[in-house]
Amino acid sequence: MTTIDWNNLGFNYIKTPWRYRMYWKDGQWSKGELTEDSTLQISEASAALHYGQQCFEGLKAYRRKDGKINLFRVDENAKRLNRSATRLLMPTIPEETFIDAVKQVVKANEDFVPPYGTGATLYIRPLLIGVGDSIGVSPAPEYIFTVFCMPVGPYFKGGLTPTNFIVSEYDRAAPQGTGAAKVGGNYAASLLPGKDAHDHKYSDCIYLDPETHTKIEEVGSANFFGITKDNKFITPKSPSILPSITKYSLLYLAKERLGLEAIEGTVKIDELDQFAEAGACGTAAVISPIGGIQYKDNFHVFYSETEVGPVTKALYDELTGIQFGDKKAPEGWIFEVE
Ligand code: PLP
Ligand code: COI
Repeated sequence: MTTIDWNNLGFNYIKTPWRYRMYWKDGQWSKGELTEDSTLQISEASAALHYGQQCFEGLKAYRRKDGKINLFRVDENAKRLNRSATRLLMPTIPEETFIDAVKQVVKANEDFVPPYGTGATLYIRPLLIGVGDSIGVSPAPEYIFTVFCMPVGPYFKGGLTPTNFIVSEYDRAAPQGTGAAKVGGNYAASLLPGKDAHDHKYSDCIYLDPETHTKIEEVGSANFFGITKDNKFITPKSPSILPSITKYSLLYLAKERLGLEAIEGTVKIDELDQFAEAGACGTAAVISPIGGIQYKDNFHVFYSETEVGPVTKALYDELTGIQFGDKKAPEGWIFEVE
């Protein structure tokens, strides 16, 4: 048994006992299996190390009131990993294999799935890397797919208490680049702007579209949404942001469960006045209310710097209610770990 303080977890690496490994060699995947070895031994010439030929996913397992364990839309993570892999010329993974790998890892580390009611979850990190001997800029000859996990609490310290964000002058991605793929290079590019934001006491930065710097793209680790004063849910549409599974879930829930008009569209940075509430959404971020946004010399406050707004809270209750099994899920959203 573990001695983890479930109520006070942050978003940090914790080594859990089991992870899944599968190797691509000579044009095919090996049979994947669980291992206790948390290290990877790879060639110094691995393309993942030199040229960033790698991609990853992030999803969570949720302990229900009845003790069972839910996965949320894991099939969408499988599809997105394959889109990222295809963008970087990496082999794809059969969707069923991906889902089975995630289930096996959760089951094997079941003692680390936080108890219902703590708000904590098991964060699962699937990772695909190009390895083997090669030094020219070309796809790796071999690949490793691994899935590991750890219990986590809130990604942004505030949880459901709003925090503040700052608009970055940097771009995280290019218009026809890899912004829509979940590849490490996007996150490497976000480290410096993220540090600048943290150094100035903001939770993270917000990126504008790389072409015109007039429209909100996303947060460094989550998508953006706003609730207009006339009760519309609006979230940016752009080819250079990560297609967030949480965001698409919220677009559906805002419309079908809250009766709001839900729009994927343009969010101009100089039109923040239209919003009564704003938030960041993602697997790690869940729904993190945005108190205010610093843009150049102007600090724009939304609902409140200290209290979550009513629509954001209603969306949070709906989403987490479904994830933890307290509310009826739309067809196909929940995968139970048997
Ligand atoms: N945007 C970025 C840059 C992210 O890293 C994430 C996290 O996965 C998201 C958005 C949210 O995506 P999802 O809701 O699929 O977790
Ligand atoms: C996630 O929400 O799963 C992410 O990958 C965001 C961050 C931890 C990089």
